[in-house]
Amino acid sequence: MLIAGNWKMNTDLPTARQLASAVVSSVGDPNPVRVAIFPPMVSIDAVFSVIHGSPVLLGAQNVHDGEYGAYTGEVSAPMLRSAGCHYVIVGHSERRQHFGETDETVNFKIASSRANRLVPVVCVGETLSERDAGREKQIVERQIRAGMKGVAIGSGLEMVVAYEPIWAIGTGRTATPEQAQEMHALIRKILIDLFGKTSGSDIDILYGGSMKPGNAAELLSQPDVGGGLIGGASLKAEDFAAIVAAAVKAV
Ligand code: PGA
Repeated sequence: MLIAGNWKMNTDLPTARQLASAVVSSVGDPNPVRVAIFPPMVSIDAVFSVIHGSPVLLGAQNVHDGEYGAYTGEVSAPMLRSAGCHYVIVGHSERRQHFGETDETVNFKIASSRANRLVPVVCVGETLSERDAGREKQIVERQIRAGMKGVAIGSGLEMVVAYEPIWAIGTGRTATPEQAQEMHALIRKILIDLFGKTSGSDIDILYGGSMKPGNAAELLSQPDVGGGLIGGASLKAEDFAAIVAAAVKAV
C-alpha cells in the first residue's frame, strides 16, 4: 500500500519545507504503509533534507527521457536519483493534456526511470467523454500496454500504476468504489499478463481523483486498490495524515 502526495505546481520553498515536516511528524516510524511526497522540482533538495532519515519517501512529478544534454528546462532520471528521489510520476493526465505527452513519450520516460533505479508511478485514465462512450477500459488498456512496451521489472516493488479518471481529478467528483475496483481489476489482469503472476500481483495500483479523508477508507478497502495518488488533499497536512491513517487501517 502506497499513499502518494502530488503537490503539483503548489508550495514555495518555505511552505514545502513546512508541509514536508508536518508529513514526517504524522507518519509513524516504522509505518505499515509506504508514504511518498512529490514536491515541485525546485523544492526537491530542501524536502529531501527534511525527510531524510524518516520513512517518508521522495518523488518527482516529471522526468525527461534522456540522461544529460541540451534540453533547456528539463530534469533527467540520473539527476532525480542523485537528489534522493525514489519515485517519479510519469504520464500524469495534466502532462498528457497540457504538455503533449503521449503513450510513446511515457514509454521512453518509464525506460529511463527504470534504467536509473527510479520507481515510475505510471498514470492512466479516461476522459468523461471516453467513459460516456463506454471506451474507458479500451483506453486504459492501450495506455498501459503502450507505456510498458519493452519494460522489464525484477519485482512488483519496481513499478507503480495510478488509475486516475480524468473526470475525477480536482473536480470533487470521485469514482465510486465499485468503478475504481472494476478498473483496478482490469489493470491487475494486464499487469499479470505483462510481468507474470508474482510481479504483476505485487504492483501497487493507486486510485487518484479527489481522494480525501471522507472517501479514502472505502476506496482503499477495495481488493485491487493498493493506495492513493492524492492531489488537493495532500496540500493540507491534516487531510493527508487522515488518508494515511485510513490506509494503515486498510492493510
Ligand atoms: P486530486 O488530484 O486529488 O486533486 O483530484 C489527483 C492527481 O491528479 O494526482
